[in-house]
Amino acid sequence: MKELKIKTPTAEYPIYITQGFDNLAESFKKAGFEGRKLCIVTESNVAPIYLDTIKGLLSEWDVSSYIFKAGEESKNLDTITDFYKHFLDEKLDRKSVLVALGGGVTGDMTGFAAATYMRGIPFVQIPTTLLAQVDSSVGGKTGVDFLGNKNMVGAFYQPSFVYINSETLSTLPSEQVASGMAEAIKTAYIIDKELLSYFNENAADIKALAPEKIQHVIYACCKAKAWVVNQDEKESGLREILNFGHTFGHAVEKLSGFKLLHGECVAIGMAAAMHLAANMEKTTQKDLEDAESLLQFFDLPIRAENFGSDEIYKQMFYDKKTKNGKLNLVVLDKIGSAYTEKNAPEDMVKAAIEHITK
Ligand SMILES: NC(=O)c1ccc[n+]([C@@H]2O[C@H](COP(=O)([O-])OP(=O)(O)OC[C@H]3O[C@@H](n4cnc5c(N)ncnc54)[C@H](O)[C@@H]3O)[C@@H](O)[C@H]2O)c1
Ligand SMILES: [Zn+2]
Repeated sequence: MKELKIKTPTAEYPIYITQGFDNLAESFKKAGFEGRKLCIVTESNVAPIYLDTIKGLLSEWDVSSYIFKAGEESKNLDTITDFYKHFLDEKLDRKSVLVALGGGVTGDMTGFAAATYMRGIPFVQIPTTLLAQVDSSVGGKTGVDFLGNKNMVGAFYQPSFVYINSETLSTLPSEQVASGMAEAIKTAYIIDKELLSYFNENAADIKALAPEKIQHVIYACCKAKAWVVNQDEKESGLREILNFGHTFGHAVEKLSGFKLLHGECVAIGMAAAMHLAANMEKTTQKDLEDAESLLQFFDLPIRAENFGSDEIYKQMFYDKKTKNGKLNLVVLDKIGSAYTEKNAPEDMVKAAIEHITK
């Protein structure tokens, strides 16, 4: 079992990365949770596969569970109200521990419920999607959507520990695996050149989810994201680089009516962002081609042919990261390093969009 220690200005906790759930009970003991009431929060797709196993492994504890309907549509305050009702019925108190079992939707909502129930109780993350394992379970952002606005209501709140069992990826639909892979590749490009080489050298094994290889990727991504978040826990500056490919990507995501998965749009967005970096002479045409082949190898799209370049350009100005009518674009200054560019030349931004729509 690999262990990564996360230190933020407000908390310190471990991320365990392993194969199987064998060390789960031990992890709860290590966290000092013996004798506490536990409540597993999970959803309708994950519960039938993993809930009984987890309950069995935690049978020394007084465990209840709450299952909500899977999907982003559930990520709202009504569902949180249902959580609170269950917590009250189960007489959870300030010592009780919530356990988020599922993807990013489960993690974000359970974290938010933990941050707010009785002004804050501990929670543990057991992320079961690749996106949650490489991205959303690190950083302490929790929350729900509100009146159609994504992650509008929320809190920064850190878990007591994160337990990542890479075997859970074997039941995850392949397009969800690919979507998570896009965020992992993003992390490599903006922060970790070595991880990018690792991706290129072990692409087939990583795609096949070979335990050692995928765990290395997860570890490197958590470490890289933690590095960024540590320096910028409340998102005032550096953390923006995590949005590499996202301003282009969000526009495509919105225009697709959210039919394309987030990671798929990020992949398309990265193709545009790599084009921009090459045009600005930060990176090369070859870097762009390499990035596109890597993304395609992982079954990710790199073009948005069905959309007009004008509508994508316009849509980009609605991005919440756009300030004072200026695009804030994350640009690579070289492979493995990124910054926020507030003055990207308009013709180059348009050329990048042409590139993904042609
Ligand atoms: N907190 C953060 O920093 C952060 C970062 C990125 C994204 N997010 C949030 O994460 C959410 C997206 O996360 P996600 O992609 O994990 O979505 P998700 O939780 O909806 O999971 C995706 C799909 O996979 C299913 N699933 C999950 N684990 C499974 C498994 N092991 N086997 C089979 N099916 C499984 C789910 O039921 C769902 O249908 C969004 O709401 C987004 O806002 C948060
Ligand atoms: Zn993303």
